[in-house]
Order: sequence, then C-alpha cells, then structure tokens
Amino acid sequence: MSESMILATTLEELRQARALLENPLGLVPTMGYLHRGHLSLVERARAECASVGVSIFVNPTQFGPKEDLTNYPRNLEGDLKLLEAAGVDLVWMPTPEIVYPPGFQTWVAVEGLTSPLEGAMRPGHFRGVTTVVAKLFNAFQPQKAYFGQKDAQQAAVIRRMTRDLDFPVDITICPTLREADGLAMSSRNTYLNPQERQAATVLFRALSAAKAAYDSGERDAESLRVLMRETIESEPFAKMQYVSCADYDTLEELQTVGDKALLSMAVTLGKTRLIDNFVIGD
Ligand code: PAJ
Repeated sequence: MSESMILATTLEELRQARALLENPLGLVPTMGYLHRGHLSLVERARAECASVGVSIFVNPTQFGPKEDLTNYPRNLEGDLKLLEAAGVDLVWMPTPEIVYPPGFQTWVAVEGLTSPLEGAMRPGHFRGVTTVVAKLFNAFQPQKAYFGQKDAQQAAVIRRMTRDLDFPVDITICPTLREADGLAMSSRNTYLNPQERQAATVLFRALSAAKAAYDSGERDAESLRVLMRETIESEPFAKMQYVSCADYDTLEELQTVGDKALLSMAVTLGKTRLIDNFVIGD
C-alpha cells in the first residue's frame, strides 16, 4: 500500500503511476457514486492484492439514448474520501474524450450471452460495458479484477470476454450487498421517492418467494417465474420488465431447474429501473 492515494486523469498519468505499483494489482471498475456494495469489492481487492486501483467513469457507451446518462448521480469528492479511507492506491477518473477520442471505432462485443435479459432490454449496453472494461484492463494491467454478483449478466459477460480474448486477469465475483430490508444497494436507489423506496423491496420479496419454493422442492422453472411475476404484480407501484429462471452459465431460460440456476428480474418503479438476482442450486 502506498502512502497516499494517487489520482490520475490522462492515460499517461495512469500508466506512469501504475508502473510504480506492486503486483498483483487488483482493479475495481466503477461508475462512481459509491456505496457499501462498491466498497465491499474494494475491501476484497485490498485483502487479496499488493495494490488496488479503482476507476470512476460514467461510461457513455453503455447507456441507451433514452437512459439516465446525463442524470446519473455523481459525487466525486465523497467517492475519493471513501476510497482513500479504504486504502486504495490509484484512482483513474478519465473524461469521455480520453476513453473515446475522436474517430474511435473499435468495439469489443460478446455474442450469445448478451442476447437475453438485460441485453434484450438494453440494446448495445453490453458492447459498451465490454469495450470499456477491455480498455480498463489494458490501461491498468491488473492481475485481478473485482465485479459484483448484483449485475449477474454483466459478470458472466466479462468472464466470457476475459477468457475469449485471453486477458491475463483473474476475475472475482463478489456477493450482493443489501439494505436491511433486502433492497440491493445501487447508485440508482437514490432516484426513488419514499413510496417507491418502500415498494422497491418487491424485488427481494419476489426472489425470496421463488427461492423458498425451490427450497421446498419446486423444480418447475415456469412455476418459479409465475411466483416472481405474481409477487411483482401485487405491488401497485412496481412494473415488471422481465422475470427469468435461467441456466447459470448460458443464461438460457430453463424448463426444469437442474443444478445451478439464476433467478433474475428487472422492475421499474416510476422512472427508476432496478435489477436483482439470486443464484439457486449448486
Ligand atoms: P457500477 O454500477 O458503478 O458498479 C461497479 C461494480 O460494483 C460492479 O461490478 C457492480 O456489480 C458492483 N456492485 C454494484 N452494486 C453492488 C452491490 N449491491 N453489491 C455488490 N456489488 C455491487 O457496473 C458498473 O458500474 C459498470 O457497468 C462498469 C463495470 C464499471 C463498466 O462501466
């Protein structure tokens, strides 16, 4: 761990600072507005690596034209305080022009895995995610990188990209941190008004209902999807976008739950879109 946290903006600054850090370096990519979920990834990296790097970059290419890019919450000063307290060595905060200079036209895209679920609802989203994460891997040259299970499909897609492109980076997926009432921590929770915030527990309730049914022996995937759907429909402020009971590795919808499966959903509360998931079986 170095004496004080280094802040880099340009790629040159980042590379110079990175070269002085000890290996293994653990990278935690973020879009900022940090909460305890993000910090749990930083803590894990701190425990496992000689150096820790964090990126704060609201990546424009992973937002759709009707999504919340311009309103995405930001609190750079607060974020840096939290990261300094967590013992981070190096923070990169590039501008969009640094990551995507004029004339940029190269993309990293994972096929197949990005078709269902979030990929179906948010065309182009994962292409933006994989492109920026590939660039972050090239910039930081980390030996390890940490992502959250909260974004289950993103985690699967990044693992696939890392394997397919032979990035020498070990990917660790960390458990979802939740509020006391079960709501998964998310920067977007800040958009919720008090009524919506209360209703937002419906994601956790629906997932818990399906898991309880699974635990009591239900193996029919459609029955689990119906249970989640009905729970969401019982909440007047919530609107279901999708519910899924899919194979953990391929993300294809299941008929019967055999081994590891992913229960997942996207729900809107007013203008806010939330996702959550549970893993069942092993
Ligand atoms: P962001 O939403 O800021 O999340 C950064 C990391 O924190 C992701 O790996 C995400 O899965 C993890 N995370 C978010 N909420 C969590 C929670 N409640 N518990 C545990 N981990 C949580 O995900 C992104 O940014 C971007 O897509 C990024 C990977 C940085 C690429 O731009």
